[in-house]
Amino acid sequence: MVEIAPSILAADFSRLAEEIRAVQAAGASMVHVDVMDGHFVPSITIGPLVVQSLRRATDLALDCHLMIEDADRYAVEFVGAGADMVSVHQEACPHLHRTLTAIRGAGASPGVVINPATPVHMLDEALELADYILVMSVNPGFGGQEFIPGVLDKVRRLAQLRGERGLSYRIEIDGGITLVNVGEAARAGCDIIVAGTAIFHNSDPGEAFAAMAKEAERALALRV
Ligand code: DX5
Ligand code: ZN
Repeated sequence: MVEIAPSILAADFSRLAEEIRAVQAAGASMVHVDVMDGHFVPSITIGPLVVQSLRRATDLALDCHLMIEDADRYAVEFVGAGADMVSVHQEACPHLHRTLTAIRGAGASPGVVINPATPVHMLDEALELADYILVMSVNPGFGGQEFIPGVLDKVRRLAQLRGERGLSYRIEIDGGITLVNVGEAARAGCDIIVAGTAIFHNSDPGEAFAAMAKEAERALALRV
């Protein structure tokens, strides 16, 4: 089953609870929360205090994507704030083994993220430590960018490696997903598909979510 994870980066921050309720009513089971620090990426978004408020506002799973320097220092704080899933960038984590182990130890699912220019083999020794691998399909930092189709080869490779090594991580993709390419992402092997602009910049986010979920399932049913 493919899950669509609405990214609240594209939502109206003054009405987050309402925006989340709209996608939940349409069937969402998780929301994607983009944490940016102005260092690892140019933008600054939200921190643990907002995650705490989101935790009080919804029972949906909170998938926190940390685009920050020194994730090793802050990751566990996000678990304490209520994140169910916390992912950190391979490029920002010199102590990946420690960081992923600490996230799991604190009670959340650990994930590792790779940028478009980072090859899958950089995760060789980390695959077994993560519950999910997030493949960036744009360069992180902003919503509304164009999808980079070449990253789908990395999704296929990760799916192949999972089988070969008997692992069970989920594969997530993030950036530039629309109704046009969501099916291709599902067919390539993505289990979680993040979409921000395509959902929250729509006049009816619930309807946009449902259309994407339906299109992903339709594409999967066509898979031979
Ligand atoms: C980009 C973020 C994404 C972003 C995706 O750095 O990690 O999660 O919200 O937004 P769209 O779907 O608009 O590309
Ligand atoms: Zn993200």
